[in-house]
Amino acid sequence: MDIARTPATPDGNPEMADAAVEPKASAIIRREDYTPFPWLVPQVHLSFELGVEQTRVTSRLTVERNPAADASPTIRLNGDGLKLSELQVDGEPCSTHAMDGDDLVVTLPGERHELTIVTQIDPAANSQLMGLYASNGMLCTQCEAEGFRRITFFPDRPDVLSTYTVRMSGPAAQFPILLCNGNKADSGGDGDTHWAEWHDPWPKPAYLFALVAGDLVARSDSFTTTGGRTVELNVWVRDGDLDRTEHAMESLKRSMKWDEEVFGREYDLDLFNIVAVSDFNMGAMENKGLNVFNTKYVLADQETATDGDFDGVEGVIGHEYFHNWSGNRITCRDWFQLSLKEGFTVLRDQLFSQDMDSAPVKRIEDVRILRGVQFPEDSGPLAHSIRPDSYREISNFYTPTIYNKGAEVIRMMRTMAGEEAFRKGTDLYFDRHDGEAATCEDFITAIEDGAGLDLRQFRLWYSQAGTPKVSVAVTHDGDTAALTFKQDIPATPGQADKQPMPIPLRIALFDRESGKHDGEHLVMLDTAEKEVRFAGFAAPPVLSINRGFSAPVTIDRAVSRDDLVFLAAKDDDPFARYEAMQDLMVGHLVSAVAGEMDSAERDAARQDIACAFAAVLEDDRLDDLMRGELLMMPSQAYLSEQMLLAEPGRIHEEREALKAALGSALESQLLTLHKRASALPFALDQAAKGARKVKTVALTYLAAAKPDTASDLAEKQYSGADNMTDRQGALMVLAGLQSPARTGALLDFYNRYRDNPLVVDKWFSLQASSLHPQVLQHVKALRDHPDFTLKNPNRVRALYMAFAASPHAFHAEDGEGYRMIADLILELDPINAQTAARFVTPLGRWQRIEPARSALMRGELERIAEAGNLSRDTFEQVTRSLG
Ligand code: PHE
Ligand code: ZN
Repeated sequence: MDIARTPATPDGNPEMADAAVEPKASAIIRREDYTPFPWLVPQVHLSFELGVEQTRVTSRLTVERNPAADASPTIRLNGDGLKLSELQVDGEPCSTHAMDGDDLVVTLPGERHELTIVTQIDPAANSQLMGLYASNGMLCTQCEAEGFRRITFFPDRPDVLSTYTVRMSGPAAQFPILLCNGNKADSGGDGDTHWAEWHDPWPKPAYLFALVAGDLVARSDSFTTTGGRTVELNVWVRDGDLDRTEHAMESLKRSMKWDEEVFGREYDLDLFNIVAVSDFNMGAMENKGLNVFNTKYVLADQETATDGDFDGVEGVIGHEYFHNWSGNRITCRDWFQLSLKEGFTVLRDQLFSQDMDSAPVKRIEDVRILRGVQFPEDSGPLAHSIRPDSYREISNFYTPTIYNKGAEVIRMMRTMAGEEAFRKGTDLYFDRHDGEAATCEDFITAIEDGAGLDLRQFRLWYSQAGTPKVSVAVTHDGDTAALTFKQDIPATPGQADKQPMPIPLRIALFDRESGKHDGEHLVMLDTAEKEVRFAGFAAPPVLSINRGFSAPVTIDRAVSRDDLVFLAAKDDDPFARYEAMQDLMVGHLVSAVAGEMDSAERDAARQDIACAFAAVLEDDRLDDLMRGELLMMPSQAYLSEQMLLAEPGRIHEEREALKAALGSALESQLLTLHKRASALPFALDQAAKGARKVKTVALTYLAAAKPDTASDLAEKQYSGADNMTDRQGALMVLAGLQSPARTGALLDFYNRYRDNPLVVDKWFSLQASSLHPQVLQHVKALRDHPDFTLKNPNRVRALYMAFAASPHAFHAEDGEGYRMIADLILELDPINAQTAARFVTPLGRWQRIEPARSALMRGELERIAEAGNLSRDTFEQVTRSLG
């Protein structure tokens, strides 16, 4: 069956135009229903007569019967809100077509035909930012996953691969630059109108099509591949942004080099264009030879971007570039295979960033994202496997599970195989499936064959949702230490019973005396229970487990605070050391929230944590980047995950109280640290980056303990800053304090950067996520700020995603925070459904929250559900979230 339409209307039914079509919102698409498309579309010729308010699209398709599919008398061309202006078959006006909902169905008698289709679209009216839309006077496209059908009628599914030739014409003054996929073949002009013709030699699915027309300037450079191809590189931005593109260009060149060296992948066109767009639903898009980026992931300089922003640019530039092989040369057969390209490409970008920067710190950051965002998804109503079985709206499946857990699953294969064998597996995959629309199964088989692994049982990671829980107990007898492992995979929606999965756990057993271990082991936990014995231990060893976070699981074990303090100081695996610090804090906070501690116990626990912190502050073998990680508190989201029913108010209180306790216990060390770090001049190297990181970390602890001291320090850091990392860090601290300096600093920041939308986004976010008791009122006021608009996704996210992630305000006891998010969803849904639907997630956590708040959250979800007229995106998320 054609996966891109409702199951109720099989292809080949000539009466389908009259058949009742299910309302969009109720159509469920299933992976098991996949069938190849009955037609091949080898050639696509597109002609665009461009205008911001009216663009005329003429599409000429060569279609021929697909020998690998069941024959059909008709061809289904997907549309979304399109009006057909003209249709010809083999040069004659067509009378054998019908509309089926939004799709165009044409009866075709022969083996091979040429279809000519004309549509008229209005890019300026396109607020969904899918298809062809206007952004700041320029025109651009976004076609993944199903945006091409908003441009012209087409079999909009990833397994239909075509060669594209595209002609664009339009007013030269308005659109001086005309870009498309592939290479420019020809261009010209007459008077005020000009045109360009582009040709992309690589067959591709429609979701990789892109076009850009506008007044843009480029930073240009070139890269010569190992094979000797000279590639012209351009980063296109609006006039005035050029001096903030150097980092993007350097990141691109580094990505190209890295992919040659590490995965043996070379670029395959003479041109690579990147365009920065300020209205964009996601981070960036890997269109063949013409990547379109959210400005957030292109523009960066010392004055306006933080170190985190710089890393974000490097990571996303890498990610999109790597898609040229993992995504474009080999694409997905259907959207259920999304993790084939996304999980693998996230792994590739993570490894790239690990090699460019600090590998341990990058690993810790990636795990933090996974546990802060994906674990909650996996334990909530939206849980799905990395290869889902069904969906209503594919946009809803661009999730941390598909992306980040998908990357972890492939990383486990790499851990099991070893780097070298894994490379043989990926070589085989690229070689075997080049030019195809492949499946996750193809990938797994290629890794099995190339790397020599048996992944039969491992395939369960693709079908089973939920984060496995591994419990482990250590016993000691004579000279032998025995580890008893158990695994348990929680039930998730639609999956009550799970089978044990192979879980690769890197472990080490430390001798308490010497503080050393004699080598790491890889334990494969592939049964529900397993015992592993290690000889040669005169005394009970200290277990270091899931080193490097070798498996995306939670570890449940009885471990003493002493052992955690030991590991926090001694573990030679940086992740495990970080983890020991986290466990120390998590253990304390979870019991504190549960009210299990009297004040003596609480003091003792805080004392131990303070000692561990002191050791980290004093350990001069640590670099500051790593030190900053070790001093990081577990997030509210991660803490909530540790509890069956989270009490957001209590978690927030206890977390702030611990922060304050550490701030006062370590006041002088923190002040010394801040002073030492402040003395280092600005540079982009790791030492200077690390110094900036610990500077703000120190401030946050001091702010909880000594608000006045911290306010003074932050004010100085703010006004003396010569870079955005320091300035934003200081402002973040000030924004959370009820200090007289707060208003002045916020005002200064706004006035200084009011013309820079990305920095104004920061200004919105800092206030919406601040620790200030009046956040709710602040957010309401910001909603009415002249710079706020629902039309720009970055701005909406800056205000409301930051707010929804802020524990105390979003979870305000009276439900005001929930109401605000629900109101936003209802207001945003008709404007930008994709972005609106993303705000359902925080409300969907209701099952894991204490009863009073839970009822309020559920109530808001019900209010949205009852509103009617919802987009398919929001409808699906709300329905699933209600359970
Ligand atoms: N494919 C893009 C990426 O991961 C993400 C994206 C999806 C962008 C859908 C836009 C729309 O790199
Ligand atoms: Zn991607």
